[in-house]
Amino acid sequence: MWPREEYIQGELLSEEEGLKESCFSKRVDLLFRHAIPEIPSTTYGTFSIYKYPAKFIPQVIAYVLKKYTKPGMRVFDPFAGYGTVGIVARVYGNEYEMWDLNPLLEVIHEVAIMKMPKVDIDVLIKDIRNSKNEFYPRWSNLNYWFPQEFLPLLSKAWGFFHSLKDERRSLLVIPLINVTRYFSWGDEKVHKLYKSKYAKRKIEELLKSDWEGKFYDMLEKEIWRLLRKIGEYKVLKPRDVKYHIRAGVDSLEENLTQEVDLLITSPPYLQAQEYIRSTKLELFWLGYGEDYIKELTKKELPYRDVAEIKVHSEKFYKYREQIKEKHLRVLYDRYFYAILGVFARLGEKVREYMCIFLGPAKIRNVSIPIDEIVVEHLKSFGWTHEVTYIDRIVGRVMFETSINPASGVEDSRIKTEHLVVLKRE
Ligand SMILES: C[S@@+](CC[C@H](N)C(=O)[O-])C[C@H]1O[C@@H](n2cnc3c(N)ncnc32)[C@H](O)[C@@H]1O
Repeated sequence: MWPREEYIQGELLSEEEGLKESCFSKRVDLLFRHAIPEIPSTTYGTFSIYKYPAKFIPQVIAYVLKKYTKPGMRVFDPFAGYGTVGIVARVYGNEYEMWDLNPLLEVIHEVAIMKMPKVDIDVLIKDIRNSKNEFYPRWSNLNYWFPQEFLPLLSKAWGFFHSLKDERRSLLVIPLINVTRYFSWGDEKVHKLYKSKYAKRKIEELLKSDWEGKFYDMLEKEIWRLLRKIGEYKVLKPRDVKYHIRAGVDSLEENLTQEVDLLITSPPYLQAQEYIRSTKLELFWLGYGEDYIKELTKKELPYRDVAEIKVHSEKFYKYREQIKEKHLRVLYDRYFYAILGVFARLGEKVREYMCIFLGPAKIRNVSIPIDEIVVEHLKSFGWTHEVTYIDRIVGRVMFETSINPASGVEDSRIKTEHLVVLKRE
């Protein structure tokens, strides 16, 4: 199950009714997934070719672009993850810039926007079967994650992939990643990389079967599934627009070289998030080395050192006082220093709107109003609060854990996500 995609289907206030109800707090209930008729589902087209943790649903971005931009305006996501912002921006004719620490951003995006390739799939599969190339990841834990038996097969398929220079490379990469995950001791049903009981059973069954035949069958099916999704995306008539991607960068250290009209993003969560760890199996097979991956992990929010900033929010201090344990306070401080600092700084190059999607979080059962702290702080940097849209969620599955590793306490389910819209004064 994918996070951010399980929403209550029931009755909700219309946007106007929502505004009437709560005009003084500028809060509007809105079910984004039902607000954009032209995008038929949250998993439509290339919006879901790969399970990236905490992915935006496309309707959130579509809503913002339709309401707050005109075609040709430039939008920017400094924590772009899967790259949903770019895929949606093409549909509405917006230029875009995207950054993320995770190098997967670039890999996924290239596939998501590719033109329909002219490749004979039968020939492609035969070429992989007959390939003499080999590729083994530079990964000391390779044998922990893959049964010995599968390694020659995987190494042949990835060796073939790494020898490609044409459109077959883009066509193959995501199907190969998805099937490789299936052939690992990892549980491909969840984002987090871990050996579950299900995964152990899966491998035992595979080893008893014609697993080589299964590997190529699955790969072929995944390729056809991708082709269908590329076809679906084309129905939305995406345009060729100017864009710029920077993957593998630390957004806390980067600057925009060009002004943008609107920033839309969902920064990492306050609770434990390990995007690099969740995707490292993919990164190793793509050819990234152990040292590089370790470096990336060290830069992930919120478990890294961040220089203290002056926070312009009373609520920040009020909630901080309620956190008694030192290590949780450190986590809280680092998180806010990072996200408030980055938005204040990057916001200097944003001409009109900043739209920040935030999941409310708890530390030791204290709900932290992250969205209100962000609004209070950014008011000191020339931003006014336009509105906060509140989207409801049921049954969120984040990293398949009900215990928050930061606190050791069971997490209560997050019920809403908030899209804060700020306008330049
Ligand atoms: C909530 S996710 C964004 C998901 C995205 N909205 C999507 O549609 O996939 C947060 C992202 O922040 C990234 N991130 C974490 N620390 C970062 C840093 N220091 N610099 C840049 N990106 C970072 C993670 O890799 C992750 O992709």
